[in-house]
Amino acid sequence: MGEFANNSRAIRRAFLDFFASRGHEEVASSSLVPENDPTLLFANAGMNQFKDAFTGKATRHRSRATTAQKCVRAGGKHNDLDNVGRTARHHTFFEMLGNFSFGDYFKEGAITFAHELLTDVFALPIARMVFTIHESDDDAAALWKKISGVPDRQIIRLGDKDNFWAMGETGPCGPCTEIHFHQGDDVPCSEEFAGRKCQGPACDCDRWIEIWNLVFMQFEQREDKSRIALPKPSVDTGMGLERLAAVLGGKRSNYETDLLSPIIAAAAVRAKKTFVPSDYSDGSVSVSLRAIADHARATAFLIADGVFPEKTGREYVLRR
Ligand code: ALA
Repeated sequence: MGEFANNSRAIRRAFLDFFASRGHEEVASSSLVPENDPTLLFANAGMNQFKDAFTGKATRHRSRATTAQKCVRAGGKHNDLDNVGRTARHHTFFEMLGNFSFGDYFKEGAITFAHELLTDVFALPIARMVFTIHESDDDAAALWKKISGVPDRQIIRLGDKDNFWAMGETGPCGPCTEIHFHQGDDVPCSEEFAGRKCQGPACDCDRWIEIWNLVFMQFEQREDKSRIALPKPSVDTGMGLERLAAVLGGKRSNYETDLLSPIIAAAAVRAKKTFVPSDYSDGSVSVSLRAIADHARATAFLIADGVFPEKTGREYVLRR
């Protein structure tokens, strides 16, 4: 983990280089303002700019790509605004590292790449990972077992809510497998506070952090609610840079990484307040400082992409 601790720049570069050296075209992040896509308020996933390549409406000269995509999830289907500051891992603005196959490799390739990158390049211990898969996906279960050698108890089957990913009400979608990393049983669980049982990797708490989602793109969701098969099975993955930086730096919160902690420190000095990393209590100064750091990044990147505070649409989201 050494060279990657507190060095998100090195993490981003290692990810892109890993996939570039395996035949992927390194493509720049798109703007946060989606081009020609009225279904989307903001870019919310690495696959957005490749939507037409998945559905067959456009062809690309290379069948593999990799990106570090700017994302905002503050409206629409994927909206994390209300969680910001209250968890160790939610943001309105974040960067999504992704690799994409447009009818090239499928499940086996995606799982092989993910396993190699996490265990060889990033040297993360497989014993602290579990792999969730769609309950119907026997192929993914067999592949994880074959490629990683983990026992059955580290492969967990979940339903559509957790392991079927869709871009929005319409667009490409498919079953997915998520890689969760164990942050420690002593990490507070909101379910336990409420008198319920921690659900492990399926829980909304910070004990198990989802670091990477591999989507096996197979369908296109249509406006009339029908679902048609994509021309070719494809792959879309997304790993949160902030989450990976936390894990590689041995931190329990994205807010303690080099991506966010300097902003918190600057805000704390100006506000003459103390940031307590473990304090998630309702209405606390630390919750506010996390929200300020998150919103400062979202605001800066949105303005850089030409969005200015206004009374409607995405401009209104920025103003809020
Ligand atoms: N598009 C997938 C996601 O956003 C990878 O989780």
